[in-house]
Amino acid sequence: MEPRSVQFSRTKLTELMIPSFANFGGKVHGGLILSLMDKVAYAVGSKHAGTYCVTVTVDGVEFLQPVEVGELLTLDAAVHYVGNSSLVVGIKVTSENIKTNEVKHTNNSYFTMVAKGEDGKPTKVPELILEDMTEMRRFVDAIKRIKVKKEANAKMQKEQDEFIMVDDMELLNNQRCKVEFKVDDDFNDLFSDT
Ligand SMILES: CC(C)(COP(=O)(O)OP(=O)(O)OC[C@H]1O[C@@H](n2cnc3c(N)ncnc32)[C@H](O)[C@@H]1OP(=O)(O)O)[C@@H](O)C(=O)NCCC(=O)NCCS
Repeated sequence: MEPRSVQFSRTKLTELMIPSFANFGGKVHGGLILSLMDKVAYAVGSKHAGTYCVTVTVDGVEFLQPVEVGELLTLDAAVHYVGNSSLVVGIKVTSENIKTNEVKHTNNSYFTMVAKGEDGKPTKVPELILEDMTEMRRFVDAIKRIKVKKEANAKMQKEQDEFIMVDDMELLNNQRCKVEFKVDDDFNDLFSDT
């Protein structure tokens, strides 16, 4: 399997934001943008892999600025990292006002895709050729993100497994919620000293 360059599969998708894409507030639906991101991630992932891919996780989706109807949305997507059967596609989303040519950087997201073989099982993807410092930095950043996420997930799982009723209930202090459910006797026993 020949290694492939980042440029081999890099894809830019530009779409005009038409009125039917608007939400009730008149801005473009976040879900529409997510769908375009998934589409471009699929295009990049499957071109690099040479087979079809599925989306496994999405990281970094934050819509910091609204996208307006009438703007030109561009998704610039490229492979940042490859594992064995998985690859990370980085997507930079920008939105351009056609009249003023002002360009807003909407967000950066990372889609983890897994290549599937004819048997529907994960299949190996070609290695990635890193041709400049940016590509090398992105690959390294992806390794770090994967490591940090694994550690955070393990920590969160531990926190959930160790739910301590009395201590953890304190986290609700000063939160904007009201505990209104009725507790049963078993639950009351947890708090009794006898
Ligand atoms: C993702 C999926 C292929 C993993 O299958 P699996 O049998 O657990 O396969 P493996 O354990 O061999 O993992 C395959 C790869 O997925 C990666 N992976 C699995 N779960 C992951 C997760 N939560 N986050 C990131 N990567 C993950 C593994 O690290 C591995 O990568 P590598 O081959 O580069 O080392 C399987 O869960 C799946 O098909 N999910 C449904 C995906 C889908 O249909 N998406 C569309 C949305 S509906």
